[in-house]
Amino acid sequence: MRAHYLDDDTAIGPDALTREGVHYERLPTAAAQYQGGLDALRARGGYVHQDEVALSPETPGLDAICAKFVDEHLHTEDEVRFVLEGEGVFDIRATDERWMRVLVEAGDLIVVPRDRYHRFFLTDAKRIRCVRLFQDPSGWTPVYR
Ligand SMILES: [Fe+2]
Repeated sequence: MRAHYLDDDTAIGPDALTREGVHYERLPTAAAQYQGGLDALRARGGYVHQDEVALSPETPGLDAICAKFVDEHLHTEDEVRFVLEGEGVFDIRATDERWMRVLVEAGDLIVVPRDRYHRFFLTDAKRIRCVRLFQDPSGWTPVYR
């Protein structure tokens, strides 16, 4: 994970992310090892549904899929992503509305809290695979700003 404020490039560490209400932790990426950590988070956060999503240049309709994430939006539940492979970028509004740019890579688990505006895009490699946790089993619904 690497993070900074977009307006002045100030670095943001894990503790600062926590103060902004964005939970972050590292987990091992081997399936036999990360599920225990995810289960603990699921119990704490009431995340009743788990799935896995992969995006790559071979994904049909990749550009259309990415277009749904790239505009500023929020959800009425937490957005939980644990990155297994690849990387992606979350821009998340700080509590003072500044953008925090957060690059997530394999082993990074991030929780964008409910009702927090954010946007997401892939890096030039256009490749990510991650586990998603949901509180609402009907899944991902964006509310655009
Ligand atoms: Fe989102």
